[in-house]
Amino acid sequence: MCGIFGYIGNRQALPFLIEGLKKLEYRGYDSAGVATLDGKLIIKKQNGKIADLEILLQKEEIEGNIGLAHTRWATHGKPSTRNSHPHTDCTGQLALVHNGIIDNYLELKGDLAKEGHRFQSETDTEVIVHLIEKFYRGDLAQAVREAIGKIRGSFAIVVIHAQEPDKLIVARSRSPLVIGLDGGEAFVASDILALMKYTPRIIALGDNEIATVQPNRVRITDFEGKPKRRKPEFISWDPVSAEKGGFAHFMLKEIHEQPLAIRNTVAAYVEPKNLTIAFPDIKMTDKVLQQVNRVVFLACGTSWHAGLVGDYLVEQFVHIPAESEYGAEFRYKNPVIDSKTLVVAVSQSGETADTLAALEEAKKAGAKILAICNVKGSSMSRESDGQIYTMAGPEIGVASTKAFTTQLVVIYLLALYLGKLKGVLTDEVVGGRLAQLREIPEKIERLLQKEKQIAQLAEKYSHIENALYLGRGKGFPIALEGALKLKEISYIHAEGYPAGEMKHGPIALIDEKMPVVILAFPGRRYEKILGNIEEVKARGGIVIAIGSEDDTILPQRADEVFTIPRTTESLSSILAVVPLQLLAYYVALQRGCHVDQPRNLAKSVTVE
Ligand code: M6R
Repeated sequence: MCGIFGYIGNRQALPFLIEGLKKLEYRGYDSAGVATLDGKLIIKKQNGKIADLEILLQKEEIEGNIGLAHTRWATHGKPSTRNSHPHTDCTGQLALVHNGIIDNYLELKGDLAKEGHRFQSETDTEVIVHLIEKFYRGDLAQAVREAIGKIRGSFAIVVIHAQEPDKLIVARSRSPLVIGLDGGEAFVASDILALMKYTPRIIALGDNEIATVQPNRVRITDFEGKPKRRKPEFISWDPVSAEKGGFAHFMLKEIHEQPLAIRNTVAAYVEPKNLTIAFPDIKMTDKVLQQVNRVVFLACGTSWHAGLVGDYLVEQFVHIPAESEYGAEFRYKNPVIDSKTLVVAVSQSGETADTLAALEEAKKAGAKILAICNVKGSSMSRESDGQIYTMAGPEIGVASTKAFTTQLVVIYLLALYLGKLKGVLTDEVVGGRLAQLREIPEKIERLLQKEKQIAQLAEKYSHIENALYLGRGKGFPIALEGALKLKEISYIHAEGYPAGEMKHGPIALIDEKMPVVILAFPGRRYEKILGNIEEVKARGGIVIAIGSEDDTILPQRADEVFTIPRTTESLSSILAVVPLQLLAYYVALQRGCHVDQPRNLAKSVTVE
């Protein structure tokens, strides 16, 4: 949802701005722009990708030791050079980049236009520049503070002014912004991925805070000007992990990283000798957790699918009600929850606006909040009573893969932990389940060796325009996830359904042109799934089944079978999603789609 970046120091800003933008391009790729101060303000922007901006900058390179940059995911105003950021004021001295949405921009634009301000774009963002211009009396931080007082909505902004070339002013409300410090140089960005290469010393700016960033100094206040003390955190993500490392796409690399990501996640929370679970960042005591009588997962997209697997796991292992709610729906409900409800926000980025707003609603209603996030220091992790981090490392592909499987691992561990606390599971049962979990990375490695088979399958079916994905039990969320992966990167219409629901409508779609991907896990629903396969076959449909490697029945019933190593029904979901990720990847590749930057999407959806 737009990436913003800023630099101040003693070196030329432009190379940092471009490199920072490239790291943030997954957040939006409609247009890009940069601004620097070199005696005067210089702005260059271009419709299209960062590569297009680079071509422009080859002709007109710009100098300056301070600058800001933006990569856009359009909300207000179509993608165009005119609507690209940075935006400037009527004097041409002030430049601003913005991530978020200004809800009352039309009203403000009308007032500012009456006062004589001239607007150049159709964006909501431009009202902020003109407001700052209006309030500017030689103190940029103060003018930004006054301007913020007039706007409603979500924003992370970076501002520079030709009359104050020694500082970046940054501010945020409900959109992420981090500051990186490296003795003599300072960086600001929408997320830490863009800063990893330069410094591990990070300050995550808090909600409703404004900061004056100088090379050796950061002053933070709230919007009223009250000083805030904040020490930099040490974030130790390895910068190399944010490179493609020889893979054609980040998505493929991240699919292959799943065994390692799962190993790291298990190692963080499972004591290998005694096979026990511990969550060091949960501040709630076991006594409080023992009283939990309901679990509500809040999430969006792929993370919501992980929460849905959580519903099944919590009910199975903890014997208490559980549900998975879409952030965007829950935030406008009157949630019926209380202090005995454990609300678990699940998010790769920890910044998804709808999940964050839903979490705030749950907090107001008195629930205990736990965040399952991949990004340390993210808004959700800060707003929660406890955090369980997925140890996936940076996930850059817009289509989420390793974040999802590590979320499944963490949720599995959480359900076992609560089951033990509640006296539903014995130490022995938990130990046994953990031993099975520890075999999963090696099982994924085994199935990744058969990647070619999936690539061949993709070649055969890449022409299709529709697909149905069916599963039962924990296979149902995996069917949803498989369908989502296919549609987001290959633009094929795909639907995920509980297999038992097929006869209530979707069965009408089945014909010889419509492949049906069926998850046939071992377990008590297996025979029912075989029944669903028969129903599809009887109507001339094509069945692509994902089943266990020792299954001798599936090859006789399905048109295509991809097998996964045998494990429990609960853990089969982690294995079964991997071939579906690969299938989506190879189909998209066959269709010539831009796998890491699918159209209209952005990695982190920080607007409502
Ligand atoms: O960062 P989050 O996990 O909160 O993001 C939620 C969704 O936006 C995300 O999972 C989205 O659906 C992905 N594109 C899925 O591949």
